[in-house]
Amino acid sequence: MLRIGMLTSGGDCQALNAAMRGVYKTVTNNSKEPVEFYGFEDGYKGMIYSHFHLLKDEDFTNILTIGGTILGTSRVPFKTIREPDAKGLDKVEAMKQTYRKLQLDCLVMLGGNGSHKTANLLSEEGLNVITLPKTIDNDLWGTDMTFGFQTAVDVATRCMDEIHTTASSHGRVFIIEVMGHKVGWLPLNAGIAGGADIILLPEIPYDIDKVVETIEKRDRAGKRFSIIAVAEGAISKEDAALSKKEYKKKLAKSEYPSVSYEVADQIFKKTGKEVRVTVPGHTQRGGAPCPYDRVFASRLGAEAGKLILDREFGFMVGYKNREMVKVPLAEVAGKLKTIDPEARIIKESKLLGISFGDE
Ligand code: F6P
Repeated sequence: MLRIGMLTSGGDCQALNAAMRGVYKTVTNNSKEPVEFYGFEDGYKGMIYSHFHLLKDEDFTNILTIGGTILGTSRVPFKTIREPDAKGLDKVEAMKQTYRKLQLDCLVMLGGNGSHKTANLLSEEGLNVITLPKTIDNDLWGTDMTFGFQTAVDVATRCMDEIHTTASSHGRVFIIEVMGHKVGWLPLNAGIAGGADIILLPEIPYDIDKVVETIEKRDRAGKRFSIIAVAEGAISKEDAALSKKEYKKKLAKSEYPSVSYEVADQIFKKTGKEVRVTVPGHTQRGGAPCPYDRVFASRLGAEAGKLILDREFGFMVGYKNREMVKVPLAEVAGKLKTIDPEARIIKESKLLGISFGDE
């Protein structure tokens, strides 16, 4: 008997179900021995508190196209994983016990950055772990692509497409706040696809005067509107010069709900122009996965299934230089794949006339 536990951890994204279906189909279609799949509910919490159920064929029927996760998810921050819970329970020990109680041969974890730190810890603690890279942020180290990202780019781009018509009718400045606190792949790609004139990213601190210069230059050229894609974690040059502690203090005192509103206010004060902010928020993580994500997640699932059948553990399945690869968990955990401000895509965007508010 081959026994596999599966969980989805952290923020949800599109194609989690497609990926799990890929693992399930691959293992059940190709295993020489009987297989049991257990689904842990709400991420690592399901393992800590022994909330799980046996997964059956029907659980995986008709889920390829469905967003969200059939298992539920939650955030269990890695920094608290070694701290006992409110009742004094040792979370790591509890997860190990659940794994042993179910006599699992492997745990399959679908997650992003923080979740990979926990997966690596469990692997170091002796559990057989295989992971799949999920996140709309595409910021996981060790893979060029994560599933969920392409669908989120579609959603954010559609939002920008729709704003374009109103921006042009009214001759306004529109800010679209795109998800991405630490890393800007999503705002960058949606910004380019959505024809943004200015893109503000966490990796490239902006100068508000440069942002205003770009808007005024467009005005002089007779353009009626400007579209700005602002990452949730966009940061001004002055704020980037602050220490982390000082910046946190400043944010806590801020009168603005997010950086976009601060940018909007500054533009209004400096230009007198009408500025509007649109925040697509969690719609970027929702809805059906696009065909790219369905294919990609299914392929990742198949590769993960094959690793399980071959009894190869301790890896994340990733995609590098157009090849599916297995990356040791220790290499993935704790690292972010950020945008290099000198990257080709940034230079190309600048050639296209997109401003990042930096020069
Ligand atoms: O990591 C995915 C993500 O959607 C980020 O882009 C965003 O900053 C964050 O999660 C939002 O988290 P939550 O759903 O907990 O508000």
